[in-house]
Amino acid sequence: MKTIGVLTSGGDAPGMNAAIRAVVRTGLYNDLRILGIQRGYDGLIKGALDDMDSESVADIVHRGGTVLRTARSEDFMTEEGFKKALNVIDVYNMDGLIVLGGDGTFRGAQKLSDAGIPTIGIPCTIDNDLAYTDYTIGFMTAVETVIEAIGKLRDTSSSHGRANVVEVMGRNCGDIALYAGLAGGAESIIIPEIGYDEDAICRKVLTGKNMGKLHHIIVLAEGVGNSFELAEAIEDKTGVETKVTVLGHVQRGGSPSAFDRILASQMGKRSVELLLQNKSGRVLGTKCNEIIDLEIREALNMKKKLNREMYDTANILSR
Ligand code: F6P
Repeated sequence: MKTIGVLTSGGDAPGMNAAIRAVVRTGLYNDLRILGIQRGYDGLIKGALDDMDSESVADIVHRGGTVLRTARSEDFMTEEGFKKALNVIDVYNMDGLIVLGGDGTFRGAQKLSDAGIPTIGIPCTIDNDLAYTDYTIGFMTAVETVIEAIGKLRDTSSSHGRANVVEVMGRNCGDIALYAGLAGGAESIIIPEIGYDEDAICRKVLTGKNMGKLHHIIVLAEGVGNSFELAEAIEDKTGVETKVTVLGHVQRGGSPSAFDRILASQMGKRSVELLLQNKSGRVLGTKCNEIIDLEIREALNMKKKLNREMYDTANILSR
């Protein structure tokens, strides 16, 4: 193993830069040449890459986004695009690849590995929607961002005696809503894994109001329904003025939390070590505070389970 490539693909996540830094510096420590590929698999197809040295990853451990930039590549999944990527790998004598991203990125990694290119995946997505790992890089930072927003909305909602529907990201996974809702003391948490009963939410708003609560924060995951329709229904049925805040892409930005920087540093280092051990087609994860690795196929076949106890806890505590 002499030369390895590193790329970030799919939606960016805070902590990607810390992982890139760890890959580059661990690679250099082991006398490898590191090629930084721009804009994910698109850059691999186009041969958009540069040598990386220790200096090129200085001052990025704390920065959000990804210095390698990112893209969701459709071309890579076509026969023609994939062939071009293999050609670039050959031309640059790449002996292995490390790819940072979510499930789409990992499907690309599987394809490369099946074609004989040693490839390792690092889970980076704010959604925390990968079943095989307790946490993905970027998730905890997104949760912190949502908690900060909930705190601010609570201030103004209390002043006006309003309810607030806070829509958060997560695709079909409710983890951002669940963790941020619990930590932010939301009155209601609505997630795709459970769904919701509009009347039950309205009853909770009214019960809260009758108990003297000045605000009602409803955290709704984007995959579960329309926040504007819900707000309208609450206002109609309870008479409580209800505002909507869609947090959107602010959840993807910002300086990564300590947790994400540490996870990213550990996984970045381990990914290079796996390549040096001639491993391929594997992804990194974390279970019970240990860094683990397993086959991509196995990881992608696992079905994410809801942390029901956390959901029930949030419900009990919000009464
Ligand atoms: O997967 C990360 C994520 O931020 C999801 O939570 C969200 O649904 C999606 O990406 C948004 O994608 P885009 O940045 O392409 O709009």
